[in-house]
Amino acid sequence: MESLRAVKGMNDILPEEMPRWHGVESQYRQITARYGYSEIRTPLVEPTSLFVRSIGDTTDIVEKEMYTFVDKGDQSLTLRPEGTASAVRAYIEHTVWARHPVAKWIYVGPMYRRERPARGRYRQFYQLGAEIFGDPGPHADAELIEMLLSFLHEAGARDLEVLVNSLGGPDTRPRYRKALVDNLGPHRARLCGDCQRRLDTNPLRILDCKVPADAELAAGAPPMLDFLADDDRVHFESVLATLRALGVPHTVAPHLVRGLDYYTRTLFEVKGRGGDLGAQNTICGGGRYDGLVQALGGPATPAIGFALGIERILAMSPEAVTGPVLDVFVVCTSTGLREATAVLLRDLRAAGLAADADLRGSSMKSQMRRADKTGARAAIIVGDDEMSRDAVQVRDLERKEQSEVPRNQAVAAVAQMARRGS
Ligand code: HAM
Repeated sequence: MESLRAVKGMNDILPEEMPRWHGVESQYRQITARYGYSEIRTPLVEPTSLFVRSIGDTTDIVEKEMYTFVDKGDQSLTLRPEGTASAVRAYIEHTVWARHPVAKWIYVGPMYRRERPARGRYRQFYQLGAEIFGDPGPHADAELIEMLLSFLHEAGARDLEVLVNSLGGPDTRPRYRKALVDNLGPHRARLCGDCQRRLDTNPLRILDCKVPADAELAAGAPPMLDFLADDDRVHFESVLATLRALGVPHTVAPHLVRGLDYYTRTLFEVKGRGGDLGAQNTICGGGRYDGLVQALGGPATPAIGFALGIERILAMSPEAVTGPVLDVFVVCTSTGLREATAVLLRDLRAAGLAADADLRGSSMKSQMRRADKTGARAAIIVGDDEMSRDAVQVRDLERKEQSEVPRNQAVAAVAQMARRGS
């Protein structure tokens, strides 16, 4: 029979890996709360048109990577490939601007893209995202980048490179696009097939092509910053000055573009140089999207955000995996004592202690071995002799000391040991 396996590029996160995930997620929630963000959860599935209209119909995501299906009601739905489009949809749908002049949101959850799976590139992956609605910056831009780096630092990621660029506003884009086509057009035949097509549909994407010959041609293209309109230049210079004031090291990358069409003005990426990242070394991408809320039917609202890949953060900061540790393991020495053991377990848990037992009738030796393996601080041994005196043995597994304790004092004895251990 064919063995059942997870979908290619979609991974199980096993219980032993979970403490690191929880660690990163809770650090993210704590740090962003300090900056005034609150969390939103949106559906994993959205109408397909939301992504086509926001990410752009000539992007790789929309052209090749979306998981799209028609549901039983004949509606075209898509598993979300990113979180910004959903955040904007929710912002508009719930008329958030009417209540909050500035809304600062974070989100945490899985995203889906049918990319070619590789180390650090999956088809289901998890993002930590942040979006600010209603603040045109440029100080908002710099504060967002500063928050991002302070989080990454606290998550243990080191040796990071922050790249920033400005795409300008609606006036800049067509002028730059023309300059790029003028510059690259004469070399059309030397570009890869995708980029030949991009020259007509979305020339900025050529700057992001990984094919070496194309990258070489793109490196000779004019820098985008030369084409910025005056107000865009003032905005970008102010972002850079604030980053300097905040002590955030960064590099201006005048050819930086990103694979989503909604960006305007400030654009940034964080790359990791260390750890176990391999070729997928972009940990975070983000930027301003001042036109998107209006384009999707809301009022004109400036916005900026970023998203981090959790798998890539974890690959950057490989630390010892620690499992959750029990406070106490209860050893039940005879099958007749299962009920008493169940009652004791309930009382331990009600007192806030992490407690477990093996009630399958395993030998005492095997139960003691398991108690040690769980890393529990204490064991309670429930035996016939002691129970006849309404008592149990309480063992300190670290100090290897054991004593008989009246049954109604066992919970307190273990709680005291757990306090000593923590
Ligand atoms: P993105 O650059 O497409 O931006 O993705 C952000 C991050 O998600 C990447 O830097 C990477 O860490 C992670 N990521 C993306 N694709 C994969 C994958 N296939 N496997 C593993 N990790 C992946 C966005 O998604 C925008 N929504 C960011 C944003 C928010 N811009 C403004 N607000």
